[in-house]
Amino acid sequence: MTPATPAPLHALVTGAAGGIGRGICFALIEQARRENLSIHISAAASTPGDKLDALLAELRQAGATATGVTGDVTDPAQCASLVAQAHAGGGDLTALVCNAGASGPGKLADLPVAQWDHTFNLNTRSVWLMAQAARPQLMRTGGSITAVASMSGLTPHPGYGAYSAAKAALIMLCRQLAQEWGADGIRVNTVCPGMTRTPLTEPVYHDPAVKAQREALVPLGRIGQPDDIGQAVAYFSGRGASYVTGAVLVVDGGVSDHMLTMIPGRPGRSPVGTT
Ligand SMILES: NC(=O)c1ccc[n+]([C@@H]2O[C@H](COP(=O)([O-])OP(=O)(O)OC[C@H]3O[C@@H](n4cnc5c(N)ncnc54)[C@H](OP(=O)(O)O)[C@@H]3O)[C@@H](O)[C@H]2O)c1
Repeated sequence: MTPATPAPLHALVTGAAGGIGRGICFALIEQARRENLSIHISAAASTPGDKLDALLAELRQAGATATGVTGDVTDPAQCASLVAQAHAGGGDLTALVCNAGASGPGKLADLPVAQWDHTFNLNTRSVWLMAQAARPQLMRTGGSITAVASMSGLTPHPGYGAYSAAKAALIMLCRQLAQEWGADGIRVNTVCPGMTRTPLTEPVYHDPAVKAQREALVPLGRIGQPDDIGQAVAYFSGRGASYVTGAVLVVDGGVSDHMLTMIPGRPGRSPVGTT
């Protein structure tokens, strides 16, 4: 008897043309290849254009089929449209990866309400709306949702009050969804990147002194790369995580736990700039 052909994978990745989004797409393709599965990537961008087209060409080169989907995730109707476009291009989703997001400085003392609302609509509400729209498809495929939050959602980030609060809410939203949709066969997990080198953060690393100071804070001694985050998302999206839901995986080289080693007068202290 001929063995059944395994069902193809179909991942919708938001913010796909950004730094971490690209890393996620290529990690998903790498994992599909390892498991001998075919994969279709619906690469989501806020607007059509050369950047998205170039990514689609690279994804196809890497062995996936790929289509672009476009929309602003802060608009509820466009969240639903992104999922519908993905379905039109590649059928039922097996994985929804909500990676689109952005930080912005702003002290809570005088943060404009519009900035608070935008930060939450982009980083938090969009994930709920995309998840709602994708739920029927993910129920049919036994699929998964993975959201990209941040270490700032677990540790207060002074000066980034709305961003930290929005990512913290995102983490709880995903844990909540995991509980509510487990019986539907949908797994929901969160990846929390630490300092990761992407277009969003690139300007910071142009100053060699700042780069060195940042690296000195990380127990693993380097700044994260998009592939580090992509591998974690691929794990949550893959069959290796078929019994994992509501999990929060911090991918930060150990920096979030580094704080107590900075207290002066204690053995094991590794001040910035020393090894
Ligand atoms: N880099 C880090 O150090 C770091 C650390 C912790 C967490 N994160 C999180 O990781 C995720 C990816 O960040 P990144 O560093 O890769 O940044 P990035 O390169 O700026 O990518 C962010 C992506 O989000 C998309 N996006 C932003 N606003 C959107 C909107 N209204 N509608 C649709 N898409 C929108 C952008 O899509 P378009 O280009 O198409 O507009 C962009 O591709 C974010 O959620 C971020 O908060 C990053």
